[in-house]
Amino acid sequence: MTSLPDAHKSLPRTIAIDGPAASGKTTIGTLLAEELGYLCLDTGIMYRAVTWQALAEGIDPEDEESVTKLAEQIEIDVLPKSVEDGRPFDVLINGLDRTWEIRSPEVNQNVSLISSYPGVREAMTRQQRKIAERGKVVMLGRDIGTVVLPDADLKVYLDASLKVRAQRRYAEEIAHGNCVHLDEVIASLKHRDAIDSTRKVAPLKVAPDAVVINTDNLTIAQVIDKIKTILVQRDP
Ligand code: DC
Repeated sequence: MTSLPDAHKSLPRTIAIDGPAASGKTTIGTLLAEELGYLCLDTGIMYRAVTWQALAEGIDPEDEESVTKLAEQIEIDVLPKSVEDGRPFDVLINGLDRTWEIRSPEVNQNVSLISSYPGVREAMTRQQRKIAERGKVVMLGRDIGTVVLPDADLKVYLDASLKVRAQRRYAEEIAHGNCVHLDEVIASLKHRDAIDSTRKVAPLKVAPDAVVINTDNLTIAQVIDKIKTILVQRDP
Protein backbone atom coordinates (compact mmCIF):
# COMPACT_ATOMS: atom_id res chain seq x y z
CA MET A 1 0.00 0.00 0.00
CA THR A 2 1.32 3.44 -0.92
CA SER A 3 2.01 5.88 1.94
CA LEU A 4 1.30 9.52 1.47
CA PRO A 5 3.97 12.18 1.88
CA ASP A 6 4.34 13.32 5.51
CA ALA A 7 4.11 17.01 4.86
CA HIS A 8 0.57 17.80 3.84
CA LYS A 9 1.80 21.04 2.36
CA SER A 10 3.19 19.00 -0.52
CA LEU A 11 -0.26 17.62 -1.32
CA PRO A 12 -2.42 19.30 -3.96
CA ARG A 13 -4.91 21.94 -2.85
CA THR A 14 -7.54 20.69 -5.23
CA ILE A 15 -8.13 17.27 -6.74
CA ALA A 16 -10.59 16.91 -9.61
CA ILE A 17 -12.12 13.50 -10.31
CA ASP A 18 -14.30 13.24 -13.39
CA GLY A 19 -15.85 10.32 -15.20
CA PRO A 20 -19.10 8.81 -16.47
CA ALA A 21 -22.01 7.67 -14.30
CA ALA A 22 -21.19 4.76 -11.98
CA SER A 23 -17.46 4.86 -12.71
CA GLY A 24 -16.76 4.81 -8.96
CA LYS A 25 -16.19 8.53 -8.38
CA THR A 26 -18.23 8.79 -5.19
CA THR A 27 -16.73 5.72 -3.50
CA ILE A 28 -13.16 6.53 -4.51
CA GLY A 29 -13.46 10.26 -3.91
CA THR A 30 -15.02 9.84 -0.46
CA LEU A 31 -12.35 7.39 0.69
CA LEU A 32 -9.49 9.43 -0.74
CA ALA A 33 -10.78 12.62 0.88
CA GLU A 34 -11.15 10.80 4.21
CA GLU A 35 -7.54 9.62 4.05
CA LEU A 36 -6.24 13.05 3.17
CA GLY A 37 -8.49 14.88 5.62
CA TYR A 38 -10.03 16.79 2.69
CA LEU A 39 -13.58 17.80 1.96
CA CYS A 40 -15.23 15.70 -0.73
CA LEU A 41 -17.76 17.50 -2.89
CA ASP A 42 -19.71 15.26 -5.23
CA THR A 43 -21.12 17.84 -7.64
CA GLY A 44 -23.54 15.30 -9.14
CA ILE A 45 -25.66 15.69 -6.02
CA MET A 46 -26.16 19.37 -6.82
CA TYR A 47 -27.66 18.60 -10.25
CA ARG A 48 -29.67 15.79 -8.66
CA ALA A 49 -30.96 18.19 -5.99
CA VAL A 50 -32.16 20.69 -8.61
CA THR A 51 -33.83 17.85 -10.52
CA TRP A 52 -35.55 16.41 -7.45
CA GLN A 53 -36.80 19.81 -6.30
CA ALA A 54 -38.12 20.66 -9.78
CA LEU A 55 -40.06 17.38 -9.92
CA ALA A 56 -41.32 17.85 -6.35
CA GLU A 57 -42.62 21.32 -7.25
CA GLY A 58 -44.31 19.98 -10.36
CA ILE A 59 -42.03 21.93 -12.70
CA ASP A 60 -41.76 20.38 -16.16
CA PRO A 61 -38.09 19.32 -16.59
CA GLU A 62 -38.30 20.71 -20.14
CA ASP A 63 -39.20 24.17 -18.82
CA GLU A 64 -35.65 25.53 -18.89
CA GLU A 65 -36.57 28.97 -17.60
CA SER A 66 -38.37 27.73 -14.48
CA VAL A 67 -35.73 25.09 -13.74
CA THR A 68 -32.97 27.71 -14.06
CA LYS A 69 -34.81 30.07 -11.71
CA LEU A 70 -35.09 27.25 -9.18
CA ALA A 71 -31.34 26.45 -9.52
CA GLU A 72 -30.51 30.06 -8.67
CA GLN A 73 -32.55 29.92 -5.46
CA ILE A 74 -32.16 26.37 -4.16
CA GLU A 75 -30.20 25.80 -0.95
CA ILE A 76 -28.13 22.61 -1.05
CA ASP A 77 -26.07 21.41 1.92
CA VAL A 78 -23.78 18.42 2.22
CA LEU A 79 -23.11 17.36 5.81
CA PRO A 80 -21.31 14.45 7.48
CA LYS A 81 -23.60 11.41 7.53
CA SER A 82 -26.10 11.36 10.39
CA VAL A 83 -27.29 7.78 9.74
CA GLU A 84 -25.34 4.57 9.03
CA ASP A 85 -27.48 3.36 6.14
CA GLY A 86 -24.87 3.20 3.41
CA ARG A 87 -24.94 6.92 2.61
CA PRO A 88 -21.55 8.62 2.15
CA PHE A 89 -22.94 11.94 3.47
CA ASP A 90 -26.24 13.69 4.15
CA VAL A 91 -27.75 15.83 1.40
CA LEU A 92 -30.12 18.57 2.53
CA ILE A 93 -32.33 20.50 0.14
CA ASN A 94 -33.78 23.68 1.58
CA GLY A 95 -32.98 22.30 5.05
CA LEU A 96 -34.56 18.83 4.65
CA ASP A 97 -32.76 15.47 4.35
CA ARG A 98 -33.18 14.25 0.74
CA THR A 99 -30.15 11.93 0.61
CA TRP A 100 -31.98 8.98 -0.92
CA GLU A 101 -34.70 10.86 -2.81
CA ILE A 102 -32.09 12.37 -5.14
CA ARG A 103 -31.08 8.84 -6.22
CA SER A 104 -34.59 7.87 -7.39
CA PRO A 105 -35.23 6.51 -10.92
CA GLU A 106 -37.24 9.69 -11.74
CA VAL A 107 -34.22 11.82 -10.89
CA ASN A 108 -31.90 9.50 -12.87
CA GLN A 109 -34.24 9.86 -15.83
CA ASN A 110 -34.28 13.68 -15.84
CA VAL A 111 -30.97 14.82 -14.32
CA SER A 112 -28.97 14.80 -17.55
CA LEU A 113 -31.48 17.06 -19.32
CA ILE A 114 -31.59 19.49 -16.41
CA SER A 115 -27.80 19.55 -16.08
CA SER A 116 -27.51 20.46 -19.76
CA TYR A 117 -29.12 23.88 -19.14
CA PRO A 118 -26.44 26.62 -19.25
CA GLY A 119 -28.12 28.69 -16.51
CA VAL A 120 -28.32 25.70 -14.18
CA ARG A 121 -24.62 24.93 -14.78
CA GLU A 122 -23.67 28.56 -14.18
CA ALA A 123 -25.44 28.61 -10.82
CA MET A 124 -23.87 25.30 -9.73
CA THR A 125 -20.38 26.12 -11.03
CA ARG A 126 -20.39 29.39 -9.10
CA GLN A 127 -21.08 27.51 -5.84
CA GLN A 128 -18.52 24.80 -6.62
CA ARG A 129 -15.72 27.31 -7.25
CA LYS A 130 -16.54 29.11 -4.02
CA ILE A 131 -16.17 25.87 -2.07
CA ALA A 132 -12.88 25.05 -3.83
CA GLU A 133 -11.39 28.43 -2.83
CA ARG A 134 -10.95 27.04 0.69
CA GLY A 135 -8.58 24.35 -0.66
CA LYS A 136 -8.17 20.77 0.58
CA VAL A 137 -10.99 19.59 -1.57
CA VAL A 138 -11.63 16.53 -3.72
CA MET A 139 -14.30 17.52 -6.24
CA LEU A 140 -16.18 14.92 -8.27
CA GLY A 141 -18.17 15.40 -11.45
CA ARG A 142 -18.09 15.55 -15.23
CA ASP A 143 -16.53 18.96 -15.94
CA ILE A 144 -14.39 19.63 -12.87
CA GLY A 145 -10.99 19.30 -14.57
CA THR A 146 -12.16 20.92 -17.80
CA VAL A 147 -14.41 23.81 -16.69
CA VAL A 148 -14.99 24.21 -12.94
CA LEU A 149 -11.36 23.94 -11.81
CA PRO A 150 -9.17 24.01 -14.93
CA ASP A 151 -6.19 24.77 -12.65
CA ALA A 152 -6.81 21.85 -10.28
CA ASP A 153 -3.49 20.53 -8.97
CA LEU A 154 -4.37 16.93 -9.76
CA LYS A 155 -6.91 15.68 -12.30
CA VAL A 156 -8.07 12.10 -12.46
CA TYR A 157 -10.52 10.69 -15.00
CA LEU A 158 -12.10 7.45 -13.80
CA ASP A 159 -13.41 5.25 -16.57
CA ALA A 160 -15.01 1.82 -16.83
CA SER A 161 -16.91 -0.10 -19.48
CA LEU A 162 -20.69 0.24 -19.68
CA LYS A 163 -21.06 -3.41 -18.67
CA VAL A 164 -19.00 -3.08 -15.50
CA ARG A 165 -20.61 0.21 -14.53
CA ALA A 166 -24.08 -1.25 -15.01
CA GLN A 167 -23.22 -4.31 -12.91
CA ARG A 168 -21.94 -2.10 -10.09
CA ARG A 169 -25.00 0.17 -10.17
CA TYR A 170 -27.31 -2.87 -10.34
CA ALA A 171 -25.64 -4.42 -7.25
CA GLU A 172 -26.06 -1.11 -5.37
CA GLU A 173 -29.76 -0.91 -6.25
CA ILE A 174 -30.38 -4.50 -5.18
CA ALA A 175 -28.47 -3.91 -1.92
CA HIS A 176 -30.86 -1.03 -1.22
CA GLY A 177 -33.84 -3.31 -1.75
CA ASN A 178 -34.80 -1.68 -5.07
CA CYS A 179 -36.33 -3.98 -7.66
CA VAL A 180 -34.52 -3.24 -10.92
CA HIS A 181 -33.44 -5.21 -13.98
CA LEU A 182 -29.92 -5.12 -15.34
CA ASP A 183 -31.26 -4.20 -18.79
CA GLU A 184 -32.97 -1.12 -17.36
CA VAL A 185 -29.78 -0.05 -15.61
CA ILE A 186 -27.80 -0.44 -18.85
CA ALA A 187 -30.40 1.60 -20.77
CA SER A 188 -30.45 4.34 -18.13
CA LEU A 189 -26.64 4.66 -18.05
CA LYS A 190 -26.47 4.70 -21.86
CA HIS A 191 -29.10 7.45 -21.98
CA ARG A 192 -27.20 9.57 -19.43
CA ASP A 193 -23.79 8.94 -21.03
CA ALA A 194 -25.14 10.12 -24.38
CA ILE A 195 -26.58 13.38 -23.01
CA ASP A 196 -23.68 14.09 -20.61
CA SER A 197 -21.02 13.70 -23.28
CA THR A 198 -22.75 15.48 -26.17
CA ARG A 199 -24.30 18.53 -24.51
CA LYS A 200 -23.09 21.93 -25.74
CA VAL A 201 -21.97 23.31 -22.38
CA ALA A 202 -19.28 21.55 -20.32
CA PRO A 203 -19.71 18.03 -21.76
CA LEU A 204 -18.07 15.04 -20.14
CA LYS A 205 -14.58 14.70 -21.61
CA VAL A 206 -11.06 13.95 -20.47
CA ALA A 207 -9.03 17.05 -19.57
CA PRO A 208 -5.75 17.04 -21.55
CA ASP A 209 -3.73 16.98 -18.32
CA ALA A 210 -5.83 14.32 -16.53
CA VAL A 211 -4.57 10.89 -15.54
CA VAL A 212 -7.01 8.29 -16.90
CA ILE A 213 -7.64 5.22 -14.75
CA ASN A 214 -9.76 2.40 -16.13
CA THR A 215 -11.31 0.67 -13.14
CA ASP A 216 -12.78 -2.37 -14.94
CA ASN A 217 -10.35 -4.82 -13.39
CA LEU A 218 -9.36 -2.89 -10.29
CA THR A 219 -10.67 -3.08 -6.74
CA ILE A 220 -11.51 0.11 -4.85
CA ALA A 221 -8.29 -0.29 -2.83
CA GLN A 222 -6.24 -0.64 -6.02
CA VAL A 223 -7.71 2.54 -7.52
CA ILE A 224 -7.02 4.49 -4.31
CA ASP A 225 -3.49 3.13 -4.29
CA LYS A 226 -2.95 4.21 -7.90
CA ILE A 227 -4.07 7.75 -7.08
CA LYS A 228 -1.85 7.80 -4.01
CA THR A 229 1.10 6.67 -6.12
CA ILE A 230 0.45 9.59 -8.48
CA LEU A 231 0.29 11.92 -5.46
CA VAL A 232 3.60 10.64 -4.14
CA GLN A 233 5.29 10.82 -7.53
CA ARG A 234 4.29 14.44 -8.01
CA ASP A 235 5.82 15.24 -4.61
CA PRO A 236 8.97 17.36 -5.21
O1 DC B 1 -22.40 11.67 -10.82
P1 DC B 1 -23.91 11.55 -10.83
O2 DC B 1 -24.39 10.34 -11.56
O3 DC B 1 -24.51 11.67 -9.47
O4 DC B 1 -24.40 12.83 -11.66
C1 DC B 1 -25.74 13.06 -11.95
C2 DC B 1 -25.87 13.87 -13.21
O5 DC B 1 -25.42 15.20 -13.00
C3 DC B 1 -25.09 13.36 -14.42
O6 DC B 1 -25.90 12.58 -15.26
C4 DC B 1 -24.63 14.58 -15.13
C5 DC B 1 -24.73 15.69 -14.13
N1 DC B 1 -23.46 16.24 -13.70
C6 DC B 1 -22.92 17.23 -14.48
O7 DC B 1 -23.47 17.55 -15.52
N2 DC B 1 -21.79 17.86 -14.08
C7 DC B 1 -21.17 17.50 -12.95
N3 DC B 1 -20.06 18.17 -12.58
C8 DC B 1 -21.69 16.46 -12.15
C9 DC B 1 -22.84 15.84 -12.57
